Amino acid sequence: MRSASLSGERLARRVLLGAIAASLAMAVTVADAQPAASPDAANGRRLFEKDGCYQCHGYAGQGGRDGARLAATAMNAQSFVRYVRGPFGAMPAFTAKVLPDGELADIYAYLKSLPAAAAAKDIPALSRVREK
Ligand code: HEC
Repeated sequence: MRSASLSGERLARRVLLGAIAASLAMAVTVADAQPAASPDAANGRRLFEKDGCYQCHGYAGQGGRDGARLAATAMNAQSFVRYVRGPFGAMPAFTAKVLPDGELADIYAYLKSLPAAAAAKDIPALSRVREK
């Protein structure tokens, strides 16, 4: 009888340890699946205006006289950040102090969410010009 209750105790302990291990594994998986914070395009739009990017690049990132087109940029996130931190040419640098990585990630998400420019052939007025 005594040995039966011991093995029952052992079994209970094993089940408990198994449950703890499983919940730890789950916690690790959940933590892995979520990066620091997922980029927020709506906040990126706000920052694009607040930080003055729009002054040179246009409200919709369409580009203009003073800055390149950024809407639907082909740059990857890494080179985007590298450029903004240390631009060449006429653009002022934005350090992590004035524009933290998380905020820059939001701006990147916003720009990526914008539509790409239409091809000339898809713009009726331009395709008519091309036909002549
Ligand atoms: C004072 C004007 C100005 C402001 C403000 C500005 N930019 Fe620029 N940016 C430029 C110019 C001009 C270029 C093109 C490179 C050049 O000739 O200097 C450029 C280029 C870039 C490029 C590279 C585009 C490419 O395809 O090579 C990125 C990315 C960029 N800007 C992001 C930003 C972001 C994000 C902000 C706001 C935090 C910002 N810029 C604010 C003027 C500006």
